[in-house]
Amino acid sequence: MVPMRRNTTSVFLVLLLIFAISTSVIYHCLGSSRRQDAGRSNITILLWHWPFGHTYKLQGDVCRKNYGVPGCHLVDIHSLYHQADVVVFHQKELQTGFSRLPLDQPRPAAQKWVWLSLESPSHNGDLRPYGGLFNWTMTYRRDADIFTPYGELVPRTTEGDYIIPAKQTLACWVVSNYQPTHKRTEVYLSLKKLIPVEVYGHWAKKPLDSDQLLSTISRCYFYLAFENSVHRDYITEKLWRNSFQAGSVPVVLGPPRANYEAFIPKDSFIHVDDFNSIKELADFLNQLASDKERYGSYFRWHHDYDVKMYTNWQERLCRICKIHEHLPGRKIYYDLDSWSRNEL
Ligand SMILES: *[C@@H]1O[C@H](CO)[C@@H](O)[C@H](O)[C@H]1NC(C)=O
Ligand SMILES: *[C@@H]1O[C@H](CO)[C@@H](O)[C@H](O)[C@H]1NC(C)=O
Repeated sequence: MVPMRRNTTSVFLVLLLIFAISTSVIYHCLGSSRRQDAGRSNITILLWHWPFGHTYKLQGDVCRKNYGVPGCHLVDIHSLYHQADVVVFHQKELQTGFSRLPLDQPRPAAQKWVWLSLESPSHNGDLRPYGGLFNWTMTYRRDADIFTPYGELVPRTTEGDYIIPAKQTLACWVVSNYQPTHKRTEVYLSLKKLIPVEVYGHWAKKPLDSDQLLSTISRCYFYLAFENSVHRDYITEKLWRNSFQAGSVPVVLGPPRANYEAFIPKDSFIHVDDFNSIKELADFLNQLASDKERYGSYFRWHHDYDVKMYTNWQERLCRICKIHEHLPGRKIYYDLDSWSRNEL
């Protein structure tokens, strides 16, 4: 009978509705408790050896106290290997043989190995022996699992107007590792025939202490932020500290302009590749230094940004915990060497 059928149908629909609502409520509760679990972290990070042999004390809850990252235990004692969730290996010491991977010990099933290097592939040596061992990469590349830049621009919190430091010299360069084969050496040698370039650092036998560095460079209109090798995303403290923090306009030699523009505003730097010749570059620098307004426009970014430098290994390591829940669960770098040399 039709009316009867209609009743059954509506009762059924009501039941279905109740079922749907309660399921979604239960699902929602489960979901949020799962999210809370993810936030309640207790992660042990073992640094297998300190980069470049400089050790730091890890007493107390370093990550929480210094960087506001709770539940992150930073340790450097090998006997904690079996408890560690993450083990970090810095490439330089593996390369020199100062340290070795613990391949003779059984590896805890859920443990992640991190390959750490802030050097470019020109200086990492042969990584082919490390294929199939690491789960995450930690380097300056934006596509690394743990992106670890030398510096970055952050929204401005500094009060007051930015004042461009008083200038005395046209161009400056600080170089410790001078190699005739570097592209940057060639550019420097051509440039210094055309404009005055003051050179500091070990090679020039004019080393600068860290407390003199910024005040010395700040007197230069331009700083030659020339990277030792040209690789995607390889933009070092030569830009962030020696140019931006010093208040000297960077003349960059490194990856293409578009790559720099992924990190910094396009009107904040001069790229060597912007010119057809070193002569054109030299003429441009001379003109710019004598045009106060135009020169000042290279400092516009100071209205919106401050420079944040990363120089502290503890801070970098604590970041692993901070982004831990977003890191890939299952991953193996079968060919680390090719990955590291991939310039896209
Ligand atoms: C964190 O993990 C360590 C090692 O797995 C354990 O000994 C410790 O009790 C845990 N702490 C908390 C607060 O869960
Ligand atoms: C991490 O890498 C090791 C070595 O390749 C591998 O055995 C392990 O399954 C990886 N772990 C995850 C969770 O991907």
